[in-house]
Amino acid sequence: MLKGRIKDISDDGLGVLESGDKLVHVPFTYPGDVVRVEKAKRRFGRRIALNFELIEKSPLRQRPRCPHFGTCGGCLWQGLKYKEQLRLKAEIFEKVTGIRAKIKGSPKIWGFRNVSNFIVTAEGIGLKEYGKPLSAVDLKECPVFSKKTPEYLHSLREFLNETGLKPWNPKDKTGDLRYLQVREGKFTGEVMVNLIAHTEPSEEVLGAFEDYFSFADSLYWSLKRDERDDPRGEVELVAGKPHIRERIEDVIYLIHPNSFFQTNSYALPLLLKAVEGFVGGERVLDLYSGVGTFGVWLAEKGFRVEGVELNPFAVEMANRNAEINGVDAIFNVGRAEETPIGDYDTVIVDPPRKGLKEAAELLVRGGVERAIYVSCNPKAFKLDYERHLKKTYRIEGVVLIDMFPHTPHIEAVVELVKYG
Ligand SMILES: C[S@@+](CC[C@H](N)C(=O)[O-])C[C@H]1O[C@@H](n2cnc3c(N)ncnc32)[C@H](O)[C@@H]1O
Repeated sequence: MLKGRIKDISDDGLGVLESGDKLVHVPFTYPGDVVRVEKAKRRFGRRIALNFELIEKSPLRQRPRCPHFGTCGGCLWQGLKYKEQLRLKAEIFEKVTGIRAKIKGSPKIWGFRNVSNFIVTAEGIGLKEYGKPLSAVDLKECPVFSKKTPEYLHSLREFLNETGLKPWNPKDKTGDLRYLQVREGKFTGEVMVNLIAHTEPSEEVLGAFEDYFSFADSLYWSLKRDERDDPRGEVELVAGKPHIRERIEDVIYLIHPNSFFQTNSYALPLLLKAVEGFVGGERVLDLYSGVGTFGVWLAEKGFRVEGVELNPFAVEMANRNAEINGVDAIFNVGRAEETPIGDYDTVIVDPPRKGLKEAAELLVRGGVERAIYVSCNPKAFKLDYERHLKKTYRIEGVVLIDMFPHTPHIEAVVELVKYG
């Protein structure tokens, strides 16, 4: 048993309780809370509280809006006032990178997520339970995603009842349905439903799928042939349009089930403008371009853009996005690590969480005047910068954008300029 006041927060957003020579990380607690921890487990070199009693509440707390707060793994920080969330994010970023930067809050902190991947298990349909990757919280609502969450989940439950299809059993790896993915175009009102399943649907099942999800503008069945725990399969359009659209100010983006799209439509303009603010010259290389989120936006502002991206679905989307917006941008399939960095004025890199790795050295050798590093992982950015990028670039500016309210995640836009 350990009792005391939480004085600090870890880089991944857990309250840190220190007493004598003992240290425990306590999920869902914040600096100022007084807690009693009865039981903890060892995880990757640290002790994590399994449950705790809150003896005194921190003044930083607010009442969480979601009834599932405390068990659902989606939101660790919903119990924290929004301005404190922002302050702590900037502090964590500074602790990890040594850079003090301004943070811009999300214009909307409820209903901002444009996608949710609900796991389908016999115990429940919803999001993963915190710390228990094999268990789902049976969700009634999800205020960070959509007011319509109960409707979506109700449709799925009815569909399961009628068809007799079995939810996935993660323990013995049997069952039919694995994930329900719902995407909403927040500024277009369009909805995409994608069911990720381990079995092929019969005609009857497809008929029921269409009936229960008749509100969707785009309906997909994705056949999952692997056991990996991700909401991906071989997509097949069942009904409606192959894409839904999202509108970010004057730019339209097409969204497809198998390509990444920034999850917070309301904060996205802030991210795009932060990137735009750091671009110099005319010719821009958009590396890790996804569906062309940055490239198409910049082309619409008059920059000449080329993009490189690994996922062919995303590249197809990016080129179609350029076409439907009538802008000068071209996107190609490729690996960032193998892309010759030629004659550009600015290179934008927006790598996955693991960071640039070998691509960092390429950037260094390319020696383009300006680089913009968009990072969702400050630790990976720090490593890429310290090990490689600082040979060529100095950090000129940093803006943090809160793309992920109620979580400890941080999005940073870093302006890198070649030494003069
Ligand atoms: C964080 S997402 C950013 C996408 C895009 N910039 C956006 O904002 O929508 C990272 C993207 O990098 C792509 N990717 C991952 N590894 C890659 C690699 N080695 N070379 C090129 N692209 C890669 C992923 O498919 C994904 O689309």
